[in-house]
Amino acid sequence: MTVLLSLTLNGRARHDAVPDNLLLVDYLRESAGLTGTKIGCDGGECGCCTVLVDGRPRHACLTLAASCQEKAVETVEALAETGGLSAVQRGIHEKLGAQSGFCTPGMVMAAEGLLRTNPDPDEAAIRAGIAANICRCTGYVKIIEAVQAAANERMP
Ligand code: FES
Ligand code: FES
Repeated sequence: MTVLLSLTLNGRARHDAVPDNLLLVDYLRESAGLTGTKIGCDGGECGCCTVLVDGRPRHACLTLAASCQEKAVETVEALAETGGLSAVQRGIHEKLGAQSGFCTPGMVMAAEGLLRTNPDPDEAAIRAGIAANICRCTGYVKIIEAVQAAANERMP
């Protein structure tokens, strides 16, 4: 069955006719052309596909696009809309928190979601915040440092 999906995607209203079984990750990448959201395991294990739905991290490979009706979806593309890096992206860059970079968009969105609800997380909170995201090549120490740096930058 086809449904008319109305949502806010990276701050802009969109209306698309989509199959009711279309996954959010496929909607983002193929219908909206936002390929920053990656597909790793395609089964809810790796977190590469993490986006924000109403500000909370969500695995887009486990989410139906139709379930985002009237919701606000944010992908990694939204963070650089002003032309510069976001605080989390800058932290990843400056703390050398990426090697292959394949996990990075999902990791960035998980960290972004964390910092919106907990602007000053300790290490345990950061570990918990990115626990659903796997990095196979950088490890987690530099990523945690990156999130700490981003939190410091965002503090008033
Ligand atoms: S691609 Fe979604 S969790 Fe791995
Ligand atoms: S930087 Fe390669 S998987 Fe994380």
